[in-house]
Amino acid sequence: MKFVEVQHFGGPEVLRFVEEADPEPKAGQVAIEVKAIGINFADIMAREGTYPGVPSAPFRPGYEVAGVVTAWGESVTGFRGGERVMGIISNGGYTTHAVLNAQETIRLPDALDFAPATALLVQGLTAYFLLEAGNLREGQSVLIAGAAGGVGSLAIQIAKLKGAGKVMGLASPSKHERAHSLGADAVFDYTQSGWSKSVLSETDGAGFSLFLDSQGDLGSEAFDALGQKAYWLIYGGQSGSRSGLPVERLWSLVGKNATLRGYNLFGNIADFERGLNEMLGWVSSGKLQLDVQRFPFSEVAQAQEAISNRKTTGKVVLEP
Ligand SMILES: NC(=O)c1ccc[n+]([C@@H]2O[C@H](COP(=O)([O-])OP(=O)(O)OC[C@H]3O[C@@H](n4cnc5c(N)ncnc54)[C@H](OP(=O)(O)O)[C@@H]3O)[C@@H](O)[C@H]2O)c1
Repeated sequence: MKFVEVQHFGGPEVLRFVEEADPEPKAGQVAIEVKAIGINFADIMAREGTYPGVPSAPFRPGYEVAGVVTAWGESVTGFRGGERVMGIISNGGYTTHAVLNAQETIRLPDALDFAPATALLVQGLTAYFLLEAGNLREGQSVLIAGAAGGVGSLAIQIAKLKGAGKVMGLASPSKHERAHSLGADAVFDYTQSGWSKSVLSETDGAGFSLFLDSQGDLGSEAFDALGQKAYWLIYGGQSGSRSGLPVERLWSLVGKNATLRGYNLFGNIADFERGLNEMLGWVSSGKLQLDVQRFPFSEVAQAQEAISNRKTTGKVVLEP
């Protein structure tokens, strides 16, 4: 098999291809020949050494694979050779051959290709469970940062499917059209100041009920657009901001009875099957669009660079 290793922390040039014997499935595992590898923003932070809990280098990056079953270990029943499946692994997903825990291996519907399927794993599940963690109620307004990105593009659609009222996106201007086409009612440019005023005006002064925030900036003007009893869920730190929480901002949280909390997908691990089943149902009935940008496996560095340079929308996938 061929896999990618991060030799030491740094830019895309630290990604190296390495070859070794294909992995043998142990008891409880399924071996697959990989047809699509999902990239996540976390892979880039891990490569740079900025992701919390990143292993020491050298390490094998990548959390998501989809492919065909080639073998299975002892005690595994119910799989057949050639079956189309996908799954999340803790590391080492940038590979031509992988082993998955059989219990966490998801079968793909016939009509779903490998590459779009990977969008449902880390990014889809994050979008799905963020909306649950934020207690989304029918008719409530939702604000979504990185709205045309991997998590964001699915969060817009799932928010609508779950009955949200106004769905607003924050994105670079070149991605506004994409966010609108996915169902966002309004999209604002968060690279310029003043977007909180637009959120207020879009919600008739009420502010947002739920903010899915991948930026993690506590100096953010989001405080100006907090609604009563709003939930603000921070699940990423893309702003790189080191701002603290000034006391006057703290009082706006208190005054609005608002909740500011962190979110980590792996707190929902026991619920993954439920989330995936519901999303697979929406994909099969044409209610959930999966937007994919594909790169050959050999272009892993270019694919990561395109994400870092904010050139992508939706899911970015490597194809061996
Ligand atoms: N907590 C969890 O469990 C969890 C799970 C999954 C993902 N995440 C987090 O969710 C966020 C989105 O993840 P993703 O995999 O779906 O990535 P993504 O949204 O596809 O990432 C690329 C997009 O992020 C936006 N962005 C904002 N600030 C950026 C910056 N400084 N550099 C590059 N891009 C920036 C860009 O869109 P614009 O140009 O429109 O800003 C860019 O196109 C990440 O912060 C990730 O770490 C957290």
